[in-house]
Amino acid sequence: MSKKVLLSGVKPTGLCHIGNYFGAMKQFVDLSEDYESYIFIADYHALNLIQNKEEMQKAILGILLDYLAIGLDPKKVTIFKQSDISEHTELAWIFDTFTTMPYLQRAHAYKDALVKDKEISVGTFNYPMLMAADILLYSPDIVPVGQDQKQHVEYARDTAQKFNKIFGDTFKLPEPMIMKNVATVPGLDGKKMSKSYGNTIPLFAEYEEIKKCVMKIVTDSGNDIPENVFAIHKLLRPEAELKKIYEEKKGKYKEMKDLLVEDLEKFIAPMREKRKELEKDIPKVLAILSEGSEKAKKIASAKMIEVREKIGVKI
Ligand code: ADP
Ligand code: TRP
Repeated sequence: MSKKVLLSGVKPTGLCHIGNYFGAMKQFVDLSEDYESYIFIADYHALNLIQNKEEMQKAILGILLDYLAIGLDPKKVTIFKQSDISEHTELAWIFDTFTTMPYLQRAHAYKDALVKDKEISVGTFNYPMLMAADILLYSPDIVPVGQDQKQHVEYARDTAQKFNKIFGDTFKLPEPMIMKNVATVPGLDGKKMSKSYGNTIPLFAEYEEIKKCVMKIVTDSGNDIPENVFAIHKLLRPEAELKKIYEEKKGKYKEMKDLLVEDLEKFIAPMREKRKELEKDIPKVLAILSEGSEKAKKIASAKMIEVREKIGVKI
């Protein structure tokens, strides 16, 4: 039996941290064993946020290196770039023509953006339609996303249904797969680890940087076991084993932190080294991306031929 198809997009937005790794990135690698996988860099979505040539180029290359370094295997996963496949924006326009403003105004992400900035871009408003096109062009069975993106996948489903109703059966309805929140990874201060809080451990940190981060972890001196240290540490060792070690080191925060530094280094070093290796041959890395885009383009363009025919623009 042929494998089910998985598709997901990642926005290039800067330095990854271990929260991103355990919460999302690692799961793409794990799932690629069982699904025919398509993972793309959502650069046209990122254009709503990054409007600077050098920054954009750096962000795209950065996320590509990150994913290859953590072990996403181009033999198993088609890795491509949204902007290489013009069918995404073309289909988004078609969806725009039968999607209403009130419907888009109900999107959580739009409402959140409105709170932050009253004059949001048309691109931000329209975000779910480009995402619907991203998804529907490839007829995936599942779309793994974080909880915050679930509504967008539902929008893609609704949009497919609406199109099918108006123009006849064309799109397969995708299912969101909510990535098991490997419990939200806490940051150095115990709050959710996030770029926006400045409380992260970067995924490709050098040894000295790891040390600095770990020493900054906030500890509550009332406890025998420093909760924030333990919460990060248990991502790297079985909890039962770790509990025993922490029991033995009761009260000795420095020793626990030293052990966490060593464990983080063991976990990060191979990925960090692999990323450095990849950085030495950027043309090869970019060739992986163009090969992926070529493969994706074939699927997307075949689907668009069908769409143009269905809507009647092909005579
Ligand atoms: P950030 O909060 O650092 O800006 P993003 O919003 O770019 O991170 O998240 C990218 C992906 O990583 C999302 O799928 C999100 O669910 C996941 N993620 C981010 N931070 C964490 C965390 N602390 N724990 C678990 N998953 C996370
Ligand atoms: N909106 C997603 C995010 O912010 C990224 C994304 C764009 C995506 N297009 C997609 C995810 C299609 C899944 C499928 O994380």
